[in-house]
Amino acid sequence: MLYDVPVNLGDRSYQIHIGAGILGQLGQLCADAGLKGKCLIITDENVGALYGQTVFHSLEEAGFAVDLAILPPGEQTKCGKQLFALYSKCIEAGLDRRSFIVALGGGVIGDLAGYAAASYLRGIPFVQVPTSLLAMVDSSVGGKTGINLPEGKNLVGAFYQPELVLADLDTLKTLPVREYRAGLAEVVKYGIIYDAPFFDLLEQNSAELANLENEELLAKMVGRSCEIKAAVVAEDEREGGLRAILNFGHTVGHAVEKVAGYGEYVHGEGVAIGSVFAARASVAQADLPEADCRRIETIFADLKLPVRAPEYSWPDLRAALSVDKKTVGGMPKFVLVSEIGKSSFGNAVPEALMEKLWKEL
Ligand code: NAD
Ligand code: GLY
Repeated sequence: MLYDVPVNLGDRSYQIHIGAGILGQLGQLCADAGLKGKCLIITDENVGALYGQTVFHSLEEAGFAVDLAILPPGEQTKCGKQLFALYSKCIEAGLDRRSFIVALGGGVIGDLAGYAAASYLRGIPFVQVPTSLLAMVDSSVGGKTGINLPEGKNLVGAFYQPELVLADLDTLKTLPVREYRAGLAEVVKYGIIYDAPFFDLLEQNSAELANLENEELLAKMVGRSCEIKAAVVAEDEREGGLRAILNFGHTVGHAVEKVAGYGEYVHGEGVAIGSVFAARASVAQADLPEADCRRIETIFADLKLPVRAPEYSWPDLRAALSVDKKTVGGMPKFVLVSEIGKSSFGNAVPEALMEKLWKEL
């Protein structure tokens, strides 16, 4: 099975190939996409041990000269030190402007390897091979690449589109369940902000989804998430407006991750808490019916994601909200929903209401 979703961006358009057991087709798909010469696979230790060889051989069999860089797993890897080490590796491997990079892994590897590709020799082609659910439905699509600074997450980066994305659903079988469920938070987000029938489908099948039990449903869920992300990115590639709706739940989510200390909550868990906050703010500010707000809370709980705020003081959380990338003049901006499937971006929420909502959560 191979299910293709196009990302339509003029001369930077590409395909997302989704299927089960398709990792070995990577080499041929790269050749079909017109890639040539040398390539460097960038992966982490966990993913490299599981899938490095399959990807390596597939590329070699398709005629590419292949090299491999294996980095430590985890968010700390998305940093300047690893980026500069990768530039040295690219030179050592003899990559020139006709060569390409393959990002094999979760969002950490995708963001870092994507930015290495965007900046090495002022840009060489790259391919995304996402292996976490979050990377399949979100980070590998749409061209946001970058690294963290000691001062904060994703502060250096570029919009840089891949040549193709290949998502092999079978790789999710080895993903730790906590990481899988964190990815589900981004999937639910697409239903909330853009597609009410998709939300209904997820809601009706939440027990199966929480436990990765239904492969057909999984394919549908990844495919529809990619279609929605592709549609939003095609309309607003550089987040001049509409793309901001993809940040639903992320304003408070990022602040929770920051106050907790990175690693305590994985990204999707912060997003789940932030989504409940944003849903409650939507009831107060955007006329979201109470019943829809309850459905949003219930689906995250059913997917075994956290929906209650940790015991952080409001001043600590508020301080973290002020340094969010999307904050303007100290006021955080929120994506709100007026009904499930209909969202708006750039909304301010009054100070007193933010504090009240946090304390009630
Ligand atoms: P991650 O890359 O750290 O992967 C999570 C863990 O799962 C890692 O330990 C990894 O080794 C392991 N793993 C991945 N795939 C596996 C598999 N198939 N089998 C076994 N283990 C596997 O984390 P993530 O959640 O994938 O990505 C988070 C990153 O993505 C953050 O840095 C975030 O900022 C970024 N992000 C970027 C965008 C974007 O648009 N570029 C969007 C959302 C998030
Ligand atoms: N993950 C948000 C975006 O790609 O815009």
